[in-house]
Amino acid sequence: MLRRTILAASRQPRLREAISTMPLSRDVVRRFVAGETTEDAVRATRELVDEGLLVSLDHLGEDTTEAGHAEAVAKAYITLLQRLDDDGLTGGAEVSVKLSAIGQALDRHLCLDHARRICEAATAAGTTVTLDMEDHTTTDSTLGILAELRTDFPGTGAVIQSYLRRSAGDVEDLIRSRARVRLCKGAYKEPESVAYQSRKEVDLAYVRLLVRLMRDGAYPMIATHDPRLVAIASKLAEKRDQGTYEFQMLYGIRPNEQRRLAASGARVRVYTPYGQEWYGYLMRRMAERPANLAFFLRALATKS
Ligand code: FDA
Repeated sequence: MLRRTILAASRQPRLREAISTMPLSRDVVRRFVAGETTEDAVRATRELVDEGLLVSLDHLGEDTTEAGHAEAVAKAYITLLQRLDDDGLTGGAEVSVKLSAIGQALDRHLCLDHARRICEAATAAGTTVTLDMEDHTTTDSTLGILAELRTDFPGTGAVIQSYLRRSAGDVEDLIRSRARVRLCKGAYKEPESVAYQSRKEVDLAYVRLLVRLMRDGAYPMIATHDPRLVAIASKLAEKRDQGTYEFQMLYGIRPNEQRRLAASGARVRVYTPYGQEWYGYLMRRMAERPANLAFFLRALATKS
């Protein structure tokens, strides 16, 4: 309930304005965001790779409404991929892209064109792209663009959200097409008609999808911090070869668990956001854990 309230409130323009004008140095933002610039992203990647972790970099931003901005986001990814390549980091780092940031709502062809250019830059750098999944109104479009991209860039990965009622069918399609699949619970405010609302239903759906992906999926990416789901995935992984699946967690969340899993020999990727447009991302992290919100409000009160 609180999660839905926070997600709804976060769309209020005045709240967005008030929070977005806070400097990034605020502790709570720093905890979840690696920095603002390409250099910050490269530095954070190097630190994580040095610790034996893999990385997926997300240039923050979503819901782009201007073609010029969509172009700038695509360029930022291309610049990042070249920098990662120059620094010899693409063996351990890929990128995650939100299609809404590169023009999905403006023009499908423009968005596909930008996504292609990012995939080309990733391929040239020896790495891959995973398409994030946003709210349910974009799912068909995102899976359609994924299928087109995978014709030329078969390494491009998808995200499946276990809260969506449709996901069992989508997972079967992605298993058939041998796509890499990142499985998460889902972070948006969705109506009951399309999404399970209770934690229990979402978790049970996660387990069902996880079982399918770990049995027949090409390369499952287990994106969760939930200790029970990590334990179930670890058990299912006993039947898979090492290197044919990986765990994924968000930058700043359960960092000790990330390192524990990596030390046990598992592949662990840290989804690492950077950039100036951190508002939407931060609000979803607040909604996931109300304790974060208390920390955030305290930091705001003591430092302003
Ligand atoms: P759950 O929310 O039940 O949390 C389990 C435990 O993890 C908590 O008890 C707490 O200890 C810790 N935890 C979780 N969230 C926390 C937070 N914000 N702060 C502090 N501790 C926290 N969603 C989406 O809709 N589209 C997408 O493309 C992606 N992409 C994505 C990539 C990766 C790599 C990850 C890990 C997650 C996503 N997500 C996502 C987000 C995902 O849908 C989900 O909202 C979060 O991962 C939280 O769900 P958990 O599975 O961690 O379980």
